[in-house]
Amino acid sequence: MTRLLPNVNKVFFASDGSSAVEIALKMSLHAHQIAGQHQRTHFVALENAYHGETVGALSVSDLGLYKTPYKPLLFPTTFLQHIPYVRGSDDPLWHDCETEWVAIEKQLNNTPEQLSAIIVEPIVQGAGGIKIYSADFLRRLSAWAKTHGVHLIADEIMTGIARTGKMLACEHAAITPDFLCLSKGLTSGFLPMSAVLTTQKIYDYFYDDYETGRSFLHSHTFSGNALAAAVANETLSIVETESIEHHATFIGQHMRKAMYALADEFTQLSNPRGIGAIAAIDLPKDNRTPRLSLQIAVDAAKNGILLRPIDQTLYWMPPLIAETADLDRLYHATRKVLSNLRIA
Ligand SMILES: Cc1ncc(COP(=O)(O)O)c(C=O)c1O
Repeated sequence: MTRLLPNVNKVFFASDGSSAVEIALKMSLHAHQIAGQHQRTHFVALENAYHGETVGALSVSDLGLYKTPYKPLLFPTTFLQHIPYVRGSDDPLWHDCETEWVAIEKQLNNTPEQLSAIIVEPIVQGAGGIKIYSADFLRRLSAWAKTHGVHLIADEIMTGIARTGKMLACEHAAITPDFLCLSKGLTSGFLPMSAVLTTQKIYDYFYDDYETGRSFLHSHTFSGNALAAAVANETLSIVETESIEHHATFIGQHMRKAMYALADEFTQLSNPRGIGAIAAIDLPKDNRTPRLSLQIAVDAAKNGILLRPIDQTLYWMPPLIAETADLDRLYHATRKVLSNLRIA
């Protein structure tokens, strides 16, 4: 794991994605405190962000459905607006979002000295609706954070370990975050495990005699569970030796073609998009079918596939070992489900 990202190679183990996010938030704040920067207490996230459902993770998430009832428990976060979303890496905005960046930088420049960290799902926001954004935006955001002494937390819980066609989505923008959160793909989903990787610099803030009170105290019973760690090691070894990230790119190309075919056939569908082994399309907003997502999920299961639209977004995120025959089955079954809905 320590070879994934040069210089981000100190590992703190946990047991699930939300815990990893809590750890990264706490470690960022605490490191600033040790460095004497007690005013750095505020966090910035992106509109449509999803980082999990514990109190800290919910605070930096932007999905009302999940957080509204718990608002009294949550801390205030600034959510950057007008993110330059793209359909894929062939969108011009992917390479250059200078105009859009001007508006975003204004939002950041309000109180940079109060910021502890900016947290992002690099390149793809999952639960927020499979939204892909400009690599140039991520590059600019990372550079801005470095210039202003603000940490960057890369929540790669969904994107990490080859899902976007790179081992880490951060590689699309060639950035090095201060904290990297991994889970899901780390054990191929077989056992619960997560990890927060950080730099030697952050590690050194906490490395001292216990009596100095600088220790980073965050422990859950199953953090770094040995069995899960063995599965993670095996997963990483298979991903590396079988070049799974290249396979992710290959199956992604196949899926995107199929998504575009669905967009051509079902004209009420919009915004087909994708990167790596992720493809998505939006269902009609004004569709009158009650509980459309549920209907799709139930009908898909009857047709032998798992589809679970997020709100109005239908997406494919198959296992990274999927073969073209699996993807063809996914396409034909999805087509059948959409035909049954008569939304063309
Ligand atoms: C980007 C991201 N962050 C955090 C989480 C939370 O992980 P967990 O459900 O393991 O707590 C998820 C889960 O879907 C996620 O996609």
